[in-house]
Amino acid sequence: LPESQVAVLRAASANDARSIDRLADETGLKPETVTGAVFELEDEGLVTVEESTDETVTLTDEAREYLADGLPEVRLYEAALDAGADDDPAQMGRVIGQSGLEGPQVDIALSNYARKGYGTIESGEITADPDADPESDAEASALAALDAGDSVAGADVLDQLQSRGLAELSESTVRSVTLTDEGVTAMMEGVETAETVGQLTPEMLTSGEWRDVEFAEYNVEADAERIDGGKTHILRQTANRVKDTLVGMGFEEMEGPHADAEFWINDCLFMPQDHPARTHWDQFALENPREIGKLPDDLVARVEDAHRNGVGEDGDGYHSPWTEEVARGIDLRGHTTSLSMRYLSGHEVGELEPPQRFFSVEKVYRNDTLDPTHLLEFYQIEGWVMAEDLSVRDLMGTFEEFYAQFGITDIEFKPHYNPYTEPSFELFGTHPTTGEMVEIGNSGMFREEVLEPLGVECDVMAWGLALERLLMLMYGFEDIRDVHGTLCDLDLLRETEVLH
Ligand code: PHE
Repeated sequence: LPESQVAVLRAASANDARSIDRLADETGLKPETVTGAVFELEDEGLVTVEESTDETVTLTDEAREYLADGLPEVRLYEAALDAGADDDPAQMGRVIGQSGLEGPQVDIALSNYARKGYGTIESGEITADPDADPESDAEASALAALDAGDSVAGADVLDQLQSRGLAELSESTVRSVTLTDEGVTAMMEGVETAETVGQLTPEMLTSGEWRDVEFAEYNVEADAERIDGGKTHILRQTANRVKDTLVGMGFEEMEGPHADAEFWINDCLFMPQDHPARTHWDQFALENPREIGKLPDDLVARVEDAHRNGVGEDGDGYHSPWTEEVARGIDLRGHTTSLSMRYLSGHEVGELEPPQRFFSVEKVYRNDTLDPTHLLEFYQIEGWVMAEDLSVRDLMGTFEEFYAQFGITDIEFKPHYNPYTEPSFELFGTHPTTGEMVEIGNSGMFREEVLEPLGVECDVMAWGLALERLLMLMYGFEDIRDVHGTLCDLDLLRETEVLH
């Protein structure tokens, strides 16, 4: 027998099952070598192997940080109490400042706060439930128990810790080895050690020695270390596929600033400055710089005129306040329709003659409340077609053609209202596992009040579709937070096979 098998046979016993680790200790061999030898010996009938599964829970570095400093949502709750939010709602920015939470911990605190009943977060204000008790926080207690080496009662808490990336569960196969009667006999009769060759060398090949040696056998069942290579995130892969698809349909790509003037984000889109629609994206405003340097004067004048007086013969404006100061304010764009305005205005790539088709697949930012279908930032598939005599049928046909390339053939349309399109339609698709209707986009034909100031004389149909929602329909994800953001599910992302 090969040396390692002989060593293992000597270390094994007939009446005391021994683990691979113990055999490794006693023989001085690596556990994987012992495992290999054990399988060989089992084939020879010299030992028996029993397998069982062992689960171990380990805490991540992030969990260790919280053990020291407290869970982010608990810290937020304490800061909220300090700010008196158990009596009156407090301003959220201030409470976050007081809490000392920074970076991704802020998101983490916000996304767990309401879920765990610490209070509510709404329109920038936070309340603290006076009955909440951080001392009995199940997740905090579970962390402390695991840290002390105790087990955790309740699979739910453990699941939660895992999905927050605080605990990792690993399963390993534990094998215990016992000598069989034949094994005992073999030992008593004495076994011979044979040299086996683990690696074929060029010298063996040239000398011909390879003909005479005995090669170690591969054990293809041995546990191997799992190595996860890096790969492109499925959201990025899908974004690239969307781009290829649109390029294939004859579209060109638009580019432009993530932080932009309200002029391009709202005013060009005929959104009145004093109208709730204006804040309906719940935009994030920039503090520095607060204002855009340059806007095209002639266009600003025409947009202001459309807002004040309307366009066309019987057009009527909003008769509401309009100032260039507001238009110059800089926000993170709540939609990429700001890019469409820049391109349609002729200020990006020059005056455009119909027909034209443009698109972008880019990030937008909204101050939404996080939930399974909403993130503070997401990707929009923006697009528009400029041509003479477009109709709603062209719009619907374009979506059907586009979504069919992703295997989605049951798009439904619902009439909708946008200040900048008439008619407008929301798009819906059916979620493959829940069967629920999911809103996947918004679209319409740009109004005269938008097109005339831009100097566009023909029809323009346009849309903004959510890339993440397309992903949900393609892969059946139910919670968008599994896919990206600080709470994403790495295993899910590793194991999801990309659809082509
Ligand atoms: N801007 C819209 C949104 O974000 C999408 C849209 C774009 C609708 C262009 C109509 C025309 O929901």
